[in-house]
Amino acid sequence: MARLTDIAQDWLAESIREGGHVIDATLGNGADAAFLAQHIGKAGTLFGFDVQAQALTATQTLLQHQPCQQSFFLAGHETMAKHIPRALHGHIQAIMFNLGWLPNSDKSIITKADTTIAALEQSLELLAPEGRLSVMVYPGHKGGDSEAAQVMAWLSQTCTHPAFTLNQIILPNRPTAPILLQVIKL
Ligand SMILES: C[S@@+](CC[C@H](N)C(=O)[O-])C[C@H]1O[C@@H](n2cnc3c(N)ncnc32)[C@H](O)[C@@H]1O
Repeated sequence: MARLTDIAQDWLAESIREGGHVIDATLGNGADAAFLAQHIGKAGTLFGFDVQAQALTATQTLLQHQPCQQSFFLAGHETMAKHIPRALHGHIQAIMFNLGWLPNSDKSIITKADTTIAALEQSLELLAPEGRLSVMVYPGHKGGDSEAAQVMAWLSQTCTHPAFTLNQIILPNRPTAPILLQVIKL
């Protein structure tokens, strides 16, 4: 089976058009940001958030030859609505969350349910019609089990038809494996 991170990217790519505006809510080492940048072309804008300076540095280095507009914030994603220009609210084609900690780094700096849910609430407003949101949660990480449960409960309660569709991809026979949550704004 394909990796869940690849499934998340392929699924999001279907909503991204050349010149589109997209958000990476957890920059980390920049792999997801690089994927998003490749799909928006030079007229598109990639916004990115992380609370660690080293994540912004890694992402800027990885994306230095990407021609798109890049706007990265050393700030929690729970502040995204105030950083994204007002004119783009309701026009974001794809938003990506990959929760947990920065690989090969300080595992005490992790995403947390209350700020993640605040950011998800803002994301639903920022998305364009037909826009897509992917959230990778990690129930097997320390602290990730409670965050995953709260995020899944909040999305299930909030993302109901006819405003949204919600899909969960859970790997069989692996209760602590990552789970991919996919939302489409209808
Ligand atoms: C699993 S990593 C992201 C992986 C990344 N998307 C990539 O492609 O490498 C999770 C990231 O979330 C960041 N983070 C933690 N709390 C955050 C918050 N409130 N807002 C934004 N980023 C946060 C961590 O610093 C870490 O870099």
